[in-house]
Amino acid sequence: MSSEHIEQQLQQRVTEAEQVISAYLPPVDGMQRTVLEAMEYSVLAGGKRLRPVLLLESYRLSGGEGTLAEPFAAAIEMIHTYSLVHDDLPAMDNDRYRRGKLTTHAKYGEAMGILAGDGLLTYAFETAAKAFDQVKDPTDGTRVARAMQVLANKAGVYGMLGGQVIDVESEGQPGMTLEKILQIHTLKTAALIEASLMIGAILAGADDTRITQMEQVARAVGIAFQIQDDILDITSTQEVLGKPIGSDARNEKTTYVTLRGMDASVREVKRLSGEAADILRQMPGDTVFLETLVQMLTVRNH
Ligand code: IPE
Ligand code: IPE
Ligand code: MG
Ligand code: MG
Ligand code: MG
Repeated sequence: MSSEHIEQQLQQRVTEAEQVISAYLPPVDGMQRTVLEAMEYSVLAGGKRLRPVLLLESYRLSGGEGTLAEPFAAAIEMIHTYSLVHDDLPAMDNDRYRRGKLTTHAKYGEAMGILAGDGLLTYAFETAAKAFDQVKDPTDGTRVARAMQVLANKAGVYGMLGGQVIDVESEGQPGMTLEKILQIHTLKTAALIEASLMIGAILAGADDTRITQMEQVARAVGIAFQIQDDILDITSTQEVLGKPIGSDARNEKTTYVTLRGMDASVREVKRLSGEAADILRQMPGDTVFLETLVQMLTVRNH
């Protein structure tokens, strides 16, 4: 596939994801309109929409048709966005820019930042549950229920949230090990990517082998994605990234880059992405889009 074609295809998929996300956002009105506005502000600020794109592609790849995966695509982006809104709070990474705009707490105040994050997290599950309205038979219903379990598990204390806990507790602490860094990356970043690829497959009715393979692909992609994020925190610019650089150093984070060095980090991003692409290549179906996307992420600059 030519690089021009894949860029175009990616753009279409991002547009598709954004339409789905917008359609599921709650209207901004009523007495709680400030928090609804802050929720909308943070979600519509932009972003690569990687997780919903992966979820919808995984659904298609496993033979899914129709719109059953759409509420989950919107939900995963709401959960991801909430994780960013809270990650930027003064008590966490204390960052003032995100996706090229003021962070939610910088614009709406800290209390509203906390509440907008809480609102997005809760509304994500309300949204995902709307998939039940599309269920036509008990098999579909079981799939939706299983997808909700995975979403909750990968977002929570055994997933993204757990990773954030270890991340903030490790700030400024000596004795960070590679094993611990990989545990942080697996939880805080890979978990939501695992949820995306697994949920697409689950909703399409894929078997357990395929679901586990999707989890493996996503884990490698997710760890590579966080190493690349930590690289860009050093090498990029705020203009390109849309968020401040040097956040990790300011917060005394030990990262893969500070522990192993830049060259080893760049190599590890490539190695992990190669591993993910190899698993994809061996799957039945047309995996070219996903394989190419995984490769593109290794050279992303934002
Ligand atoms: C940022 O995620 C946080 C990490 C997990 C590294 P993204 O880089 O996917 O952020 P957006 O959605 O494009 O803004
Ligand atoms: C956070 O990692 C990952 C999340 C779960 C939000 P970072 O703190 O490095 O993410 P950025 O760089 O602020 O996007
Ligand atoms: Mg952080
Ligand atoms: Mg941060
Ligand atoms: Mg970062």
